[in-house]
Amino acid sequence: MRKTILTGIKPTGQVHLGNYIGAIKPALELAKAADYKAAYFVADYHGLTKINNPEEFRHLSYGIAATWLALGLDPNKVIFYRQSDVPEIFELNWILSCFTSKGLMNRAHAYKAIVDSNKRLDKDIDFGVNMGLFNYPILMAADILMFKTEVVPVGKDQVQHVEIARDIAESFNNSYGETFLLPEYKIQDDTAVLPGLDGRKMSKSYKNTIPLFEDPKKLQKLINKIKTDSLPPEAPKNPDISVLFMLYKEFATFVEVEKMKEQYIKGIGWGEAKKELFNVMNRFIEEPREKYNELMSSPEKIDKILKEGAEKARAISVPFLKEIKSKIGF
Ligand code: ADP
Ligand code: TRP
Repeated sequence: MRKTILTGIKPTGQVHLGNYIGAIKPALELAKAADYKAAYFVADYHGLTKINNPEEFRHLSYGIAATWLALGLDPNKVIFYRQSDVPEIFELNWILSCFTSKGLMNRAHAYKAIVDSNKRLDKDIDFGVNMGLFNYPILMAADILMFKTEVVPVGKDQVQHVEIARDIAESFNNSYGETFLLPEYKIQDDTAVLPGLDGRKMSKSYKNTIPLFEDPKKLQKLINKIKTDSLPPEAPKNPDISVLFMLYKEFATFVEVEKMKEQYIKGIGWGEAKKELFNVMNRFIEEPREKYNELMSSPEKIDKILKEGAEKARAISVPFLKEIKSKIGF
């Protein structure tokens, strides 16, 4: 039996290199493996916790979908849909919320981080928290449990959410018997967290990102902004602690990586290393960028693909929700 693998990305900003290396690239590789059947989606309702401008919301949602497609997701092999096109997920969201203790949500990292910051600033602890943000992990559990997901590929910051989904599943199963599968997370060990331009985690929230489909001129400029140390060009450099090398590895061929490693050890100027990085990155991005721009200029193509994906998703969610409701006694 092939295992079900599922992941989503919320449309809260332009897709950046961290998203690509930490989430999209590994997920696309797993989708090609014979032992998995994949379901990937645009987590638009999750995005609503942050984005309240309709134009921006629509544009960012299309952007996530176009990114997956431009990078090679094959909608004939992967169930690819928009979360909001599968309403059963929201019915399940309510059901699951009745099996989730409030204490569990109080302990969720994202919520706790806001509370801690409010305390530091002497504000009301729940300042700036909407209920969508507070309940975020329950909707994510519904996403995962609805499709009997076994493996969830995510970045490190999402691990707790997958653990919460397991807890909620167990709580439901304890009352009604085996219903939900307990999901496991899968993180990329070697590229767990990609730093951004300022050295902190690359994140939309910190405005320190390199967008994946940036045009060549801007891409070169952003690469030039990546922080390096002040070693002179001829000094030997350690590739294992260099962000430039970490990125180079993701886009260069095996032979190129080996050569670059030698150059680091012998001594390479940071300017030169940045130019080489730009070359391999731009070479890789060129084709998907064109495809991305093409899709973004004909959103009806994206809609069609997502609608077809939602039908496939609903062929699973409709009967499963029926089964769940009948167990409850509806
Ligand atoms: P952001 O922090 O920019 O808002 P998201 O929370 O939308 O990113 O993350 C989408 C996916 O990309 C998640 O699986 C997340 O773990 C991964 N991801 C985000 N930033 C990075 C990073 N800097 N390095 C590695 N993976 C990342
Ligand atoms: N919370 C995830 C993120 O911020 C997005 C997401 C929503 C997700 N539902 C999911 C990821 C289900 C994996 C599985 O990146």
